[in-house]
Amino acid sequence: MKSKDAFLKKAKNKQLVICVIGLGYVGLPLAEAYTRQGIKVIGYDINPVRIEQMKAGKSGMLHIADERVAKMIDSGLFEPSADENVLASADALLICVPTPLDEHHNPDLSYVISTCHKLKTHLRPGQIVILESTTYPGTTEQIMTPILEESGLVAGEDFAMAYSPEREDPGNAHYETSTIPKLVGADSEAEREMADATYRDIVKTVLVPNTRVAEAAKLTENIFRWVNIGLVNELKMVFDKMNIDVWEVIKAADSKPFGYMAFYPGPGVGGHCIRIDPYYLTWKAREHGVSTRFIELAGEVNIQMPRHVIGRLMEELNIRQKKALAGSKILLAGMAYKPDIDDMRESPSMELLDLLKKNGAHVDYLDSYVPEIPPNHEYPQYAGLKSIKWDEEVIASYDAVLVATDHTDVDYKRLTELAPLIVDSRNISRFVPEKLRDKIAKV
Ligand SMILES: NC(=O)c1ccc[n+]([C@@H]2O[C@H](COP(=O)([O-])OP(=O)(O)OC[C@H]3O[C@@H](n4cnc5c(N)ncnc54)[C@H](O)[C@@H]3O)[C@@H](O)[C@H]2O)c1
Repeated sequence: MKSKDAFLKKAKNKQLVICVIGLGYVGLPLAEAYTRQGIKVIGYDINPVRIEQMKAGKSGMLHIADERVAKMIDSGLFEPSADENVLASADALLICVPTPLDEHHNPDLSYVISTCHKLKTHLRPGQIVILESTTYPGTTEQIMTPILEESGLVAGEDFAMAYSPEREDPGNAHYETSTIPKLVGADSEAEREMADATYRDIVKTVLVPNTRVAEAAKLTENIFRWVNIGLVNELKMVFDKMNIDVWEVIKAADSKPFGYMAFYPGPGVGGHCIRIDPYYLTWKAREHGVSTRFIELAGEVNIQMPRHVIGRLMEELNIRQKKALAGSKILLAGMAYKPDIDDMRESPSMELLDLLKKNGAHVDYLDSYVPEIPPNHEYPQYAGLKSIKWDEEVIASYDAVLVATDHTDVDYKRLTELAPLIVDSRNISRFVPEKLRDKIAKV
């Protein structure tokens, strides 16, 4: 790499200009980590509405307080922009754009690819391009590098390439961007050094031998969760039949200080990562003629969970209330896919809502984080539905409350006192005194 030394010198003096491409759940906190260390960051996003929001000191995401963005702007170190010409002025370009699945459940790399096509017209010698988006092994080397080399510049000689997966966990009170060790993989020693220097001031880096190992490691982390969640969901259904409380089983097993890690069941699996990433590997494995049986088996279990939960709700309504689901009034508590955030991506609550409606129930939902269901591809018919407000008379009027997400701002004790029946997929019993727990059916 011709200009490695100049790059490393700039990094040592905290003079690198960073450009974060895609200012969403991942990109915005990453940009913040740089400004906190006094390093200049350009934030490039194709969505001009997001850019104007940030210029006005607003994050546009509930779990990131507006003050944090206002502070970034006030520091004079953060420059949000929708103008692609800013790409040429950065030393390091960190790509944090979405990597979803398409309608056939295959990887959709169109955001990464279009970013590279844009980038190639602004690329200049001495820059490093680092992909942070989750993807299958080989993306950096086989998809990105050939597009960027259409610029006439050569990767590893004129410009550097690296892959460094994001491990951000929005809403996690214990870990944030700068306290989660960051994997950094590049295909030459020089590029690894440059990538390491890009991150060293904001986070502890863990260097890995090449981009493919880093890409595969990220998928491994999320597949590990996917498979273990599938296992615990299966155990829940088995123990339920045996009249054993799976939550007590997990608590008991978790007292072992080694060789066991607790995972928790739920009404399905949501989010932009765990629900999607395993299929990136499945798709790539097919190209190599191998199957991913664990991933697909866990998928079979996880994907049927919403139906299982609705089936159990029907049983409980029958047995305890002598009512059919059709015609019953159901309150769905929690629309976001996990507690205390507003992220609705791939949330199983949408399927629960759909199944309830298709089975003839009258459904409302309660979620202060999701005051209104946003526009979405899978269930466009529910966009615009609004959360009910906490009102004791209204809550007492439902035949059952189905708890899908255990947001901590809900008074579960009071909810249990008011509702005739709670059907609970998240173990809210832990917030409810023992004498009230008879009203809760764990499913
Ligand atoms: N959300 C998480 O918790 C999380 C955690 C780890 C990894 N990831 C991965 O990080 C990546 C980004 O996820 P996210 O949750 O931040 O997505 P997001 O949807 O919150 O944000 C993506 C941003 O990129 C912008 N964008 C799209 N195309 C662009 C382009 N061509 N140029 C510039 N900006 C563009 C969008 O406008 C949006 O603001 C994904 O690959 C995801 O799998 C996400």
